[in-house]
Amino acid sequence: FAIDPAHRPLFGRHVLVTAGPTHEPIDPVRYIANRSSGKQGFAIAAAAAALGARVTLVAGPVTLPTPPGVDRIDVESAREMADVVKKTLPVDAAIMVAAVADWRSKDYAPEKMKKRGSAPPALLLTENPDILAQVAAGKQRPKLLVGFAAETEDVVENAKTKRKRKAADWIVANDVSGDVMGGDANAVHIVTGEGVEDLPEMPKDQVALELAERIAVALDRIDP
Ligand code: CTP
Ligand code: CA
Repeated sequence: FAIDPAHRPLFGRHVLVTAGPTHEPIDPVRYIANRSSGKQGFAIAAAAAALGARVTLVAGPVTLPTPPGVDRIDVESAREMADVVKKTLPVDAAIMVAAVADWRSKDYAPEKMKKRGSAPPALLLTENPDILAQVAAGKQRPKLLVGFAAETEDVVENAKTKRKRKAADWIVANDVSGDVMGGDANAVHIVTGEGVEDLPEMPKDQVALELAERIAVALDRIDP
């Protein structure tokens, strides 16, 4: 679908997008990861840029090309992502689409772990920083802070709880019980303080455009 090049409702706005999974190293050759492809986040970065925004895309390990007009910073782990996000602030809006690993290996083994002895090693985990919650609580909180929620059950209810718990303005909820992760289509529910908007299933590129348009309208309301 084509976007009218004269339609630039995000012109003058700086938008931060996080996308992709994170990789949490266990030893030099092993890591913990998840099935996020980065497609939805990259599509949102592309749509925001197409609507005129200056876009900083903080990307975990993915195999996607950088969208036109987007400044991309690649990271690997949740902690690296948290650092780069912090350095990118202040921004007008932040859209946290990344599937940040909730846990990392407590102890990084600097040498490749070997199969010595009889018992397999136990993997001890520790919790990663919650980047969205940190940004929400920080001094440089964006005017519009949007989180994503990947759920496999009670999608909208979980998203409502998450919106409050993380002090985000919006949570975009998607049901990942099917083949959303890695796929090209998505059906999302936009949970805001005003209610819930259910979008029908559509290509991720179009979900991105619908969101970017709504973000432009919201920013014009908050900060005309
Ligand atoms: N998020 C984050 N940092 C984390 C975990 C999540 O910034 N360490 C962000 C994600 O980018 C997303 C939102 O928080 O925008 C919700 O992520 P989700 O995994 O659904 O929420 P969690 O709080 O991790 O809850 P759970 O996975 O237990 O459902
Ligand atoms: Ca999580």
